[in-house]
Order: sequence, then C-alpha cells, then structure tokens
Amino acid sequence: MDSENKMFGEFERLFPGGVNSPVRRYGDNPRIIEKASGSRLTDVNGKTLLDYCLGFGPFILGYGNPDVKKALSKQIEKGVGFGAPNPNEAQLAGMIRSSVPSIRMMRFTNSGTEATMHAIRLARGYTGRKLIVKFAGSYHGAHDYSLIKAGSGSTTFGNPSSPGIPEEVSRTVLVGEYNNLDSIRRIFRDYGKDIAAVMTEPALGNIGFIKPENDFIQGLREITEDHDSLLILDEVITGYRFRYGAYQDVLGIKPDITTMGKIIGGGLPIGLLGGSEDIMSRLAPLGDIYEAGTFSGNPLSMASGIATLSVLRKMDYSALEKMTEKLVSGIDQALESGRIPHEMSYLVSAFQFFLTREQVKDYESVLKCDAKSYMRIFQELLKKGIYLSPSQFETNFVSFAHTDNDIDYTISSFEEVIGSAKN
Ligand SMILES: Cc1ncc(COP(=O)(O)O)c(C=O)c1O
Repeated sequence: MDSENKMFGEFERLFPGGVNSPVRRYGDNPRIIEKASGSRLTDVNGKTLLDYCLGFGPFILGYGNPDVKKALSKQIEKGVGFGAPNPNEAQLAGMIRSSVPSIRMMRFTNSGTEATMHAIRLARGYTGRKLIVKFAGSYHGAHDYSLIKAGSGSTTFGNPSSPGIPEEVSRTVLVGEYNNLDSIRRIFRDYGKDIAAVMTEPALGNIGFIKPENDFIQGLREITEDHDSLLILDEVITGYRFRYGAYQDVLGIKPDITTMGKIIGGGLPIGLLGGSEDIMSRLAPLGDIYEAGTFSGNPLSMASGIATLSVLRKMDYSALEKMTEKLVSGIDQALESGRIPHEMSYLVSAFQFFLTREQVKDYESVLKCDAKSYMRIFQELLKKGIYLSPSQFETNFVSFAHTDNDIDYTISSFEEVIGSAKN
C-alpha cells in the first residue's frame, strides 16, 4: 500500500466517499494532488499527470500562469475581502461587458450553482411566472431546480434526481430533449403562458460534449420570444472557452440572462449572472428580487479573473483549436484501428470520445455509451501519467499550456492502451 492509499483512507473517514464533490471519486484510490503547473498535476507521491480535466474547466491557461500568480500575490498584500465594493469588481465586469454584448449589467456570485439558482429566481420574479424548462442532461449546478431529470415518456414535468428535493419543486421544472425543438414546442403548447424561462447550456458539457444541431438554440430563442418567456444561456463552461467572449455570439443569439463561472475566475471560486439593465435592475437593492453573498465579488477571485482574461485576450484560440484537432484525430484513429465503435465530438478546446455505435446528440444517446470501457481506458492512461476527465459523462479540455509533445505523448499512449477498452 503506498502513502496515497493510506492517505485516502483518512479522506474516506473525513468526507463522504473521500471527496468534497462527487465526480472527484473514481475507482478505489483517486490521486491526491499536491500541486500543479502548466499542463501537469503532481500527486502526493511526486508523480506527474498530464491533465485534460483541468479542474473541470477553469484552467484554460494551464496551472500557475505567471500573470495570474502575480496578480494574486499583489491582491493578498492588499487584502482578500472587504465586504464592500472594490475596484477589481468593476474592472472584471468592464472586461466582460465589453466582450459579451448581451451582458450590460451583472452580479458576481461565488459559484456557477449560485449564478443559475439566482438567474432562475430573477426570471421568475421578472416574468411573474413559475415554470422553468430545462433539458435532460443539461447541468446547472447542484441546487434543487437543476437536479431534475426527465420524467417518464408520458410526463414533461421532471422527477427529482436526488432524495431531498420536494416533489413540489420538481413540479415547477419541465424537462425537454436537447436538440429536439419539437419537444419544446409541445411543452410551450401546453404550458407556454406559465413558463418564466428556458435554461440551457448552449453546448452540453456535462454529459460528455454535445454541440447544438440545426439551429437548435436559435429555435429556442424564437419560441421563448413568441411566448414572452426568457432565455437563460448557461455559459459556465462555454464562456471564454472557444473565443474571447461567449459562445452565444458565435451562434448569433442574444439571451435574456447569461450565467458564467469557471474560466472568468481563472481557477478561483466565481459565478456571474448578467443581462440587460432592464432585467438586472430588478435585483436588490435596486429592485425587489433578492440575491446576495458574503464573498460575492471577492477581490481575490476578481484579481484572478482580470489577470486570466487579460492574458486570454491576447491568445490565439485557433492555435488551441489546431492542438485539439490533432489530439482528437489521433484518438479517432487509435479507436478506429482498434475497431472500437465510437463518435468524436469537439470544439476549439473541449472534446470527448463517446464509445458507442450511435450518433450522440442528447442525453438518451449518451446513456447508451460504454461508460465502463471509457473508465478502463481512463485507468490505463492514468498508469501512463495521463489524466482524462474521470467519466464518459464529463468533458475533456486542452489548455494553452499543453504542448505538441504533450499531444504526441497522449496519442501514442492512447494507441498502446486501446486494447483495454475491449476487456
Ligand atoms: C454548465 C454549468 N453550469 C453550472 C455549473 C455549476 O458551477 P459550480 O460548480 O461552480 O457551482 C456547472 C459546473 O460544472 C456547469 O458545468
């Protein structure tokens, strides 16, 4: 038993499942990470791991970017929190406002979960309506309105995904099928006048990675407008991931409310909800809809976000895209030559390989994937010092800190372990 095993035993005594967030638990002995730099994590035994999970999204610059470190040190000297307005808030907000046209006014939160929870309250308060539409497989954090899964075929109201969520709550959330506008038209036909908002990730990043097809998001925009409902785009993963700005502007969509998180905090806790002045000014203390947080807009997260966006603004996302394309094509060929049925999905810096014979376009199709074989590949790669996102139902990321050599090593390792998918 190595020291990591022993240490994880202690974690299991202290935390449910040994972790402080469920997806961090894979296998019997998840690596315990001591530090990170560039594209690599180092565990407590000093072993390095080439990382494609990247903290589940925030570290698009890689770990320990010098500008981000410098900004954080400087801010620690000044103070880590004041419970009062600080200049960093306005500076980060200004950067976001000038790169996301639909966000004219915003509120920072401490996590994406808080951002979407408050966005839902804002939409309900603003429209005076109760119902929210979400999509099977679209994740918006761990609050009650997000953890609603699709009901049986005969019902559009969702079921709680977890004990502890009252049925009364799930009766306020309708669940549609991603990439299926007909499922949304049906919901609006029956409940349209009571629907406060449709909320979706523009591209799904929490059941692997799935892009919108056939103007799906444009269709949502039209349907919500026709019914005076709001459209909430949850860009917690997609914000600043594919370009310096939001994915909505690639799609040509202006949502009513946008939520963000992850990259805009450069690795420190953050969330944001933003939109037009008309909608955002309904939040307290200007308006009557309550939203608050002791640590919201804390100067450390803000400093990290400012430094991260300042670096990102100068970065060439097309170089990142080329690296991702090379990796995706290498994995594709490795799976192909191993005769393992699969589908590849990627965009600029996000990718996933789905082990399936079917086209993957929504939650139903993802559930048919061979998640066990994915985990076998994951474990074999881990032995070779490569850390993928630890589930078929997560997304992998490439950062600006990854190098061509990293990609080459990953592809050759993939070729070597591919047989394990069949065992
Ligand atoms: C699209 C999306 N929204 C919201 C959240 C919740 O963010 P957080 O984990 O910061 O609460 C996540 C987290 O993965 C996410 O992927």
